[in-house]
Amino acid sequence: MAEERGPAVVTCTAPVNIAVIKYWGKRDTDLILPINSSLSVTLHQDQLRTTTTAAASRDFTEDRLWLNGEEVDAAQPRLQACLREVRRLARKRRGDEDASPLNLSYKVHVASENNFPTAAGLASSAAGYACLVSALARLYGVEGELSEVARRGSGSACRSMLGGFVQWHRGERPDGRDSVAQQLAPETHWPELRVLILVVSGEKKAVGSTAGMQSSVDTSPLLKYRAEAVVPERLSRMARHIQERDFEGFGQLTMQDSNQFHATCLDTFPPIFYLNDVSRAIIALAHRYNAHHGRTKVAYTFDAGPNAVIFALEDTVDEFVAVVRRSFPPASNGDRFLRGLPVGTAALPEELAAAVVAEPVPGAVRYILHTKPGPGPQLLRDPDQHLLGADGLPRRTA
Ligand code: DP6
Repeated sequence: MAEERGPAVVTCTAPVNIAVIKYWGKRDTDLILPINSSLSVTLHQDQLRTTTTAAASRDFTEDRLWLNGEEVDAAQPRLQACLREVRRLARKRRGDEDASPLNLSYKVHVASENNFPTAAGLASSAAGYACLVSALARLYGVEGELSEVARRGSGSACRSMLGGFVQWHRGERPDGRDSVAQQLAPETHWPELRVLILVVSGEKKAVGSTAGMQSSVDTSPLLKYRAEAVVPERLSRMARHIQERDFEGFGQLTMQDSNQFHATCLDTFPPIFYLNDVSRAIIALAHRYNAHHGRTKVAYTFDAGPNAVIFALEDTVDEFVAVVRRSFPPASNGDRFLRGLPVGTAALPEELAAAVVAEPVPGAVRYILHTKPGPGPQLLRDPDQHLLGADGLPRRTA
């Protein structure tokens, strides 16, 4: 077969996911094996996505990586672990039938971009590694169990390999072969479910999740108790609430699990604080709002940062957004306050406002991103969407 002239190129997109039963803590830091299983909702790529182009060519002299147009070190161990694992799977597959002309010793160039500001503190490593692994797997013609490979990039990335509602099984084996993601239900399962991301103003997080969770594993007795005695029961309960589309049960457990995760952070020594005053004001607001309605209409969850992710059903979104807008009036800096899926304008009944809106804090919420559950990684077939040109270099730079 004649050698292709340009590099072999593949472009994929991948989603962000938000855990409703949190992953926090590894039992094996090299293989990225968690101390407990976790469960997440994959968010729609129309609003939040990573796009990654992977290219391989005999002409490339080293592995190179560009993130949002800027070149970064491609020797980082997690990236190399993903690359090594995909190549291992390709080699294994080729034992059976050698279909692909792509030489496994070729170096790769990878360019990756988020369609959301990295500075916003939205989980980008999950989408990033899920996208990298999807693109590399396509490039090398590898199929099948790829969540195990994505896990080697970032634990939560394994859940971004699937759409809808996803469980990451902790697994039992020391080699991690059973620590994989599984779809519990597709994104179409709960069509009314909506997600509001309240991007909170403030600085970047102080402690990254990798270091934070290790410190928790080393020092928090609460984390150990949580992993052993709390999470297993919560997982089966959460799966049932999702199966039954029971928002009351789903919402309550989502909030409780977020709170317990942050409690383990406080139990870590020295303690880690991811929530800030605005996060806490949002928590209090959600509880006043639910109490006013006499049921769980909104549920919050927070990861390793101050931004709130709110779950609600479609018919609650307009009113709750009006409540947030009244509580945290947008600063007039020209930033679009509402982004993503459309939000209707709801008149806020004065009696509701009086019951739930505390002293307004202008500018505390920078913007709201409205989204919903979505599918897993996608292949982009249009060559115009490649982030790398025929020379294997980024088409656009930062
Ligand atoms: C709080 O997946 O970012 O978002 O495996 O070290 O890369 P590493 O950590 P990461 O941790 C995510 C933690 C979390 C909870 C969750 O997503 O389950």
